[in-house]
Amino acid sequence: MDTLLPPHVRPMTEDDLDAVMAIEVASYVHSWKPEHFSAEIAGTCSWPFVAVAGGRVIGYVCLMSLFEEAQILNVAVQVSHRGRGIARLLLELAFRVALEKGAEKMALEVRASNVTAISLYQKLGFVRVGIRTGYYESVEDAVLMEKPLI
Ligand SMILES: CC(C)(COP(=O)(O)OP(=O)(O)OC[C@H]1O[C@@H](n2cnc3c(N)ncnc32)[C@H](O)[C@@H]1OP(=O)(O)O)[C@@H](O)C(=O)NCCC(=O)NCCS
Repeated sequence: MDTLLPPHVRPMTEDDLDAVMAIEVASYVHSWKPEHFSAEIAGTCSWPFVAVAGGRVIGYVCLMSLFEEAQILNVAVQVSHRGRGIARLLLELAFRVALEKGAEKMALEVRASNVTAISLYQKLGFVRVGIRTGYYESVEDAVLMEKPLI
């Protein structure tokens, strides 16, 4: 029945961690560990969400929001569900939550080689605001991106 419904987004819970970790390790060479997600679930300034379709977790976003600035810490979508607007659904919810928490802008860091993610962020209104040289494993640059929320 649920497979006939469009994907929806809800807060991440500890029960989601196996599904989240399966997506995480398929998505990154340097993946987060379960305790990183647990810290986001427990955090008072963090709001992790999962996208669910057919009763299964197919993606997630981790949002942190503190005073006027919010950050996207992680976003990933199951390989078989990419290119269907799931990341957009998750990020647009994160923008609304951040705004509700009082954030005025959204920031993130992305590997310079991750052209797919950079393209996604540009499509959603982020612009490049800087580079952190050798930020990842001392060899790869981070592109700093921001988007105004108000
Ligand atoms: C990046 C990622 C989250 C995108 O998820 P997704 O659900 O496939 O993205 P969406 O379908 O919502 O795409 C939204 C927009 O992003 C852009 N985009 C997404 N995938 C793209 C690709 N392969 N090439 C170019 N642009 C792409 C497009 O502009 C797209 O808009 P359009 O469909 O109107 O053209 C997904 O590829 C992923 O999980 N990658 C591995 C983890 C990762 O790199 N996360 C980001 C770390 S900073």
